[in-house]
Order: sequence, then structure tokens, then C-alpha cells
Amino acid sequence: MNELDTLVDTARADFAQANAPADLENAKARFLGKAGRITELMKGMAQLSVDEKKSRGAAINVAKQAIEAALNARRQALADAELDVQLRAEALDVTLPGRHRVGGGLHPVSRTMERIEAIFSSMGFDVADGPEIESDWHSFTSLNNPPNHPARSMQDTFYVDIDGEDGIPYNLRPHTSPMQVRYAHQQIKKHAAVFEAAETDPNVKPPEIRVIAPGRTYRVDSDATHSPMFHQCEGLWLGENVSFKDLKVVFTDFCRTFFETDDLVLRFRPSFFPFTEPSAEIDIQFQSGPLAGRWLEVAGSGQVHPNVVRNMGLDPERYIGFAFGMGPDRLTMLRYGVNDLRLFFDGDLRFLSQFQ
Ligand code: DAH
Repeated sequence: MNELDTLVDTARADFAQANAPADLENAKARFLGKAGRITELMKGMAQLSVDEKKSRGAAINVAKQAIEAALNARRQALADAELDVQLRAEALDVTLPGRHRVGGGLHPVSRTMERIEAIFSSMGFDVADGPEIESDWHSFTSLNNPPNHPARSMQDTFYVDIDGEDGIPYNLRPHTSPMQVRYAHQQIKKHAAVFEAAETDPNVKPPEIRVIAPGRTYRVDSDATHSPMFHQCEGLWLGENVSFKDLKVVFTDFCRTFFETDDLVLRFRPSFFPFTEPSAEIDIQFQSGPLAGRWLEVAGSGQVHPNVVRNMGLDPERYIGFAFGMGPDRLTMLRYGVNDLRLFFDGDLRFLSQFQ
């Protein structure tokens, strides 16, 4: 084997050993670079005769081309290998089933709450939010239901192990009615100047109080139609001339809008609540559909008791009006035909996803 064949073999072996592009370029420099072996051989021809140069030059060129070919082949092989690694890393299994995005949605009771808020907002009611851990005064006493009053037994209340300022433990509010007094206080504070002016100047119209207060409520109660945590929405409208007639109009309008039917009648059934006098349960009856003909209780209501108006800081001689408290859980059951309240709180997606 002549020296040129040996050189080509050495180059091939060196290239084959280069496993990264940078190594390969270093190897290339050793053979084809400015100080490389082929260049050296070319320079070495200076002393040769013209004929010798021709044949020697041709032989060196053949060797050079062979080395270049080997270099290119190795370059290609390295690039292929690199691509291979990349493809393997990014491999897609096109036989896998597609991943779809699961859409979330509102809980049916939240839908009802939003519906209630939208309907009453459209009638000019404010929407207020309040604490679920309440003082005894707000939950009971301010609502004309003082300690030891028999009406307290209407609610089986949860108590918290912390005493309020009055020395009576805080409670988990058993209804949203405490928001009546809280909201009135907030309004009087917020619009103090107008309320004060209305008190002293008979020409100043007293600002009305018109609000709903939706939220969570708690009682020691648990069966198919009662849950220890449930929802209520309180309503209150006080002004100079707000009467039971207004309650009937507002609540009838609400029910018809909520259930999307005019084929529905209301009944005000005399009842007792400490915070209203007179008081009434509101029953509704659908005239058609699956629930037709049955009276269904949906709310408690009444004309706000003067003692409650007084506890709000307002003059019961001037302020009169109505209040109501309804159960959004029950409204949701009626609207969707659900017969077990517990389904709402089990968190079972097979049930909940039907409302999306
Ligand atoms: N708070 C009452 C309850 O939980 C419901 C209620 C009745 C609210 C009459 C009222 C009302 O505002 O006037 O049973």
C-alpha cells in the first residue's frame, strides 16, 4: 500500500472515530486544513519536474477527493444520527386516544343564585353579602327574638365555641335574616347625611332600603330535604309606603320570571315569624307541567316588625315594608325536578354534569 492510500485509510479511521461534529471538524483540519497532511504533500512537490508534478499532483488529488468524500459521508452520518435522536425524543404515538378538555360549569344552586340576583337586580334591589359566623344579637335578638323567647326553638342552631361581646356564643347563622339589620346599618352609615336630613326635615324623602342577601346558612338538620348547610336568600324592602300588596307583586313577578311561566299562582298562608307581623308562608302552584296542582312552599315573608325597624336605627312610624326569606336549594329542586337535596352537595359529577 502506498503512502497516499495509507493516508486515506487513516483519515477514514479518524473520521469514523469522531462522534461529534466538532471532533469531525478537528479531524478534517488534520488532513485538509492549511497545515494539514494534504497541504503539506502539495507543498512538498515544489522540487519536482513538470511531469512528476503532473502525476504526483493527480495522485494527491485522488487521495484528497477520497478524504473529502469520507468527510462528507461522516458528516451526513452524524447529522442523521442526531436527527434520529431528536425524532425519537419527540416521538408521537398517533394511536393514543385524543385528550379533550373537560369544561367546568356552574353548580345548579349557583345558577339559581345568579338567576335570583339578576331578577331582583332588575327590580332595583341591591345584592348584599354578610358573615356566616354571626353574633346572637344579629341572628336573633335584633330580629325581635330575644334570649329565652320560645320562637328561638324554631331553629336548631350550631354554636361556635367563642363568646361574642354580649357573652353569648357566636352562631353559624341559621338564616340570612341578620342581613336585614346589617344592611340597614350599612346604608345609614353610608348615606348618613340624607338619612339625617330625612329625620329632621319632613320635605326630604327618606331613602328606601331595598336589598336581597343570598348566602349559606346552617342548621342541625339532615334528611332528603334538609342539609346542615343550605342556602337562603333574604329580601327586604322598606320605605314610606311599601305594603303587603308590593310584596305580592314583587314575589309573583319573581316566581313567574324564575320559572319562566305565567301559568303559576301564589298563596299567602298565615304563619308566624318573630321578625314580621303579619307573617305568611308563600306557596306556589303550577297550573300545568309535572308539578301541577300541588301547593309548594317556597318562602317565609311578612311585614317587618316595628321592633326590627327600630333595631335598624329607623323610625317605625316612618318606615314600613316587607321582608321575605326563600330557599334557593328548594327552588333549584323544583326548577330541575330533583327530589333529593343531598345530590347537590355530594359532588358527584354524573349528577352535576347534567346541568352544563
Ligand atoms: N328567616 C326565616 C327562616 O329562616 C325565613 C323568613 C321568614 C325570612 C319571614 C323573612 C321573613 O325575612 O320575613 O325560616
